[in-house]
Amino acid sequence: MPIQPPWTTDPAGPVAREIAPLYWIMFAAAVIVLIVVDGGLIYAGIRFRERPGVPAKQFHGNNLLELAWTVIPTLMVVTFSVLSFQRLLVLNDVNTGTAMTITVIARQWQFSYRYPNEPQYKLADGSILTTATDLHIPANTKIKLDITSQDVIHAFYIPPLGGQKDAVPGRTTTLWIEADHPGTYKGQCAEFCGSGHADMLINVVAHPKDQYAAWVASAVKSANEAAAAGGPQVAAGRQLFLSLPCAGCHTIAGTSAQGKVGPELTHIASLDSIVGILKPVNAQNLHTWIKDPQKVKPGTIMPTLGLDDATIDKIVTYLLTLK
Ligand code: CUA
Repeated sequence: MPIQPPWTTDPAGPVAREIAPLYWIMFAAAVIVLIVVDGGLIYAGIRFRERPGVPAKQFHGNNLLELAWTVIPTLMVVTFSVLSFQRLLVLNDVNTGTAMTITVIARQWQFSYRYPNEPQYKLADGSILTTATDLHIPANTKIKLDITSQDVIHAFYIPPLGGQKDAVPGRTTTLWIEADHPGTYKGQCAEFCGSGHADMLINVVAHPKDQYAAWVASAVKSANEAAAAGGPQVAAGRQLFLSLPCAGCHTIAGTSAQGKVGPELTHIASLDSIVGILKPVNAQNLHTWIKDPQKVKPGTIMPTLGLDDATIDKIVTYLLTLK
């Protein structure tokens, strides 16, 4: 399937197709303004400059010019406003013909997606299927996104498919997207949200419409298998790891934890030390580290999360299975 980079100029869905002409109209207008204004400036500078024996002429006011540079920008702004409002009617219509709603949860520094509360997305433990970074949708289908944030303001933005919406803590904003064709569409967080902002990427994977149900079934199956591996204590630790801020910073291959800020933990149990200080990697040292990393290594970017001992023990049990 094709991979489409995050450009506004190559729309791959109806929302982006609404926005692209507006982008080009404004771009053309900006180029014309640049040429006229800077051209006029350069022309006047050369034409009316002071030369030996020819003093520069001083004059004040030119009604035609004054009128022109008041009326033309006003007309331009009014035109842009009308065109924008027309498009907003389409962009804000998140409900007409919507086939499914997916919840987008932003946090430092990862987007995760919760699929609809319907039987086919239910996992064995009763929770609902979620994925991180990769948002899976059926192609040719209108998808409503309910967007929120768990910490600071982020912005969800996939230029080839749609507009940009802020993810605001404590609020839900909405956006709709639709992909014309199956493929992968790139996007990223578009609001500076801290040191991991640049790594807060988005991949929208649009499956052929008739193959989406099969993807859902396989994703549910592998989530169930991963959760079942290692017994209830490991499953609980895994669940905690993926729901607490841990997953936003660390990657564990094969899970929704795909954070890039901290070290990858896929094989943490096989390492010979924790941050080069605590040796070996065992339950006690992992506990000490997670309990208060700032005490072990002052200034580390790993935050002290204030977790209770029982919670830490569950997470440690899970981490020790990652060989
Ligand atoms: Cu999230 Cu920038």
